[in-house]
Amino acid sequence: MPRSKISLIGGGQIGGNLALLATQKELGDVVIFDIPQSEGMVKGKALDIMQLRPHDGYDSTITGTSNWDDVKDSDVFIITAGIPRKPGMNREDLLEINLGIMKDVAKNIKQQAPNAFVIVISNPLDAMVNAFYKISGFSKNKVVGMAGALDSARFRTFIAMETGCSVQDVTCMVLGGHGDTMVPVTRYATVGGVPVEELIPADRLEEILERTRFAGGEIVKLFGNGSAFYAPAQSAIEMAESYLRDKKRVIPCASLCEGEFGIDGYFIGVPSVIGAGGVERILEFKLKDDEKAALNNTLEAVKKTVKETGL
Ligand code: APR
Repeated sequence: MPRSKISLIGGGQIGGNLALLATQKELGDVVIFDIPQSEGMVKGKALDIMQLRPHDGYDSTITGTSNWDDVKDSDVFIITAGIPRKPGMNREDLLEINLGIMKDVAKNIKQQAPNAFVIVISNPLDAMVNAFYKISGFSKNKVVGMAGALDSARFRTFIAMETGCSVQDVTCMVLGGHGDTMVPVTRYATVGGVPVEELIPADRLEEILERTRFAGGEIVKLFGNGSAFYAPAQSAIEMAESYLRDKKRVIPCASLCEGEFGIDGYFIGVPSVIGAGGVERILEFKLKDDEKAALNNTLEAVKKTVKETGL
């Protein structure tokens, strides 16, 4: 069987790390695509990763390009094309520029690989994934946004730091839009099956929730120029791996809801089963009144940004 082909649209900070992680997980051959002005940069990154392969014997091939023909028949695309945040900006401030880029990217992907599975990372995430879906005309199960995987990993990290327990044993999910209104669900957050509400005092837990909601901004502030890239890359690779290896992992992702959780026609973070069919299912569960209110609040924020795209 030939290797899978994974194309990374945007070879900047996240794109470079995606290429490294995809190689180290041997997910397939990797193509890093960027604009002509950055062709040398992505060719250089590709060559650099090619040269680390001998140490652990990875067989994948990594190439850099600015030619759309080179992504032809890719199995998976991960899109980071766009600009990242600077301090003081929220994700919505990126809308105009990144929407223009997404229109171009969606048109080209549709032409080169109409059957691919597409993971969108570019921000503002929920609006960008909707833009890709609408412009490409891809089926809803082949288009998904990476947000909840990252937000949940941040929540897990803070709970592990607080309790001093292994991050591996912390389970939790963050639902809703990829913005300050996101909804970390404390009721289902556990450490080795023990509810966090039993382990962490309520006021301290509230601080952790707040830190989770603004975790991206915390890093933007520290960097001074650009946004997080290691954890976002790892989160998207987890989703790509679940698709390529038909793992059927349950990952909070921005999936198109058509009635689930009372949401209709919007991509928003919900627990999604990712397997060979793409987003195969959304796992719906009963929300309590305060959780429902929080989800409605985040939905309003998503609707507002989507409306601004005119799509
Ligand atoms: N086609 C392909 N690549 C593009 C295009 C385009 N039309 N326009 C811009 N790019 C490339 C840039 O040249 C750059 O190399 O996208 C890359 C973005 O990389 P970075 O600026 O390093 O940004 P990064 O930190 O990777 O974040 C990318 O993901 O998390 C989001 O908010 C973040 O929207 C941002 C995106």
